Amino acid sequence: GAPTDLAGLQVVVSAGGTREPIDPVRFIGNRSSGRQGVAVALAAADRGADVVLVAAHVDEGVLAEASTRPSVRIVGAGTAVELGAVMAVEAESADVVVMAAAVADYRVAEVSPRKRTKEAAPEGGITLDLVENPDILAGLVRSRRHGQTIVGFAAETPGEGETLLDRGRRKAARKGTDLLAVNEVGWTRGFESADNAVTVIDAAGEVVAARRGSKRDVAEALWDAVLVVRESRAN
Ligand code: C5P
Repeated sequence: GAPTDLAGLQVVVSAGGTREPIDPVRFIGNRSSGRQGVAVALAAADRGADVVLVAAHVDEGVLAEASTRPSVRIVGAGTAVELGAVMAVEAESADVVVMAAAVADYRVAEVSPRKRTKEAAPEGGITLDLVENPDILAGLVRSRRHGQTIVGFAAETPGEGETLLDRGRRKAARKGTDLLAVNEVGWTRGFESADNAVTVIDAAGEVVAARRGSKRDVAEALWDAVLVVRESRAN
């Protein structure tokens, strides 16, 4: 599309992986680099949008790319609970919300205020109690304001008897997203890499875009799809 086809839009994009503390020095994390989410934020900025980038843990070099842009405001968030609180506030004034962050499904039930030691632990192994984190995306959908477009990402490792698309469709229906960008991940695909392959499905489960390429290419295809769903709503 034209370089300013997102002008006048306020967009909020989450990126990176949450870190759930175990004690002051340890956490449960994931392999998200933040590259795809940052690419989505930068593509929006380059197309004229006002962007809030809500950054969970994002690789340093990746975040540096976004930090020099006047139209991108960066807000940090560490844990899933923090990310949820920031998203709730930022979404209030957003036309489009994109949840590209890899959010931990669980957090440690009791975070130790001091570094845990082996001496204080039972011999042979320990058990960490985990509690479920809120689903931020589902919460954003529940409190969606009129005309707001909500986009999710789904990183999937499809198993037997179910395709990537089947899983994506079920997830889109469950979460109530306007668009869901489904991508296959694995030990060597998706995370930490420059390229990505994404299929975008709408609220009805229809495939509205499919793009394999750089994370920037995927981001551009996603914004094209956002514009299409927004135009179809306006009519
Ligand atoms: O269910 P799953 O984690 O695969 O869904 C992925 C989508 O949901 C992503 O957009 C992710 O940012 C979002 N999510 C969330 N809160 C969670 C878990 C995932 O917003 N607790």
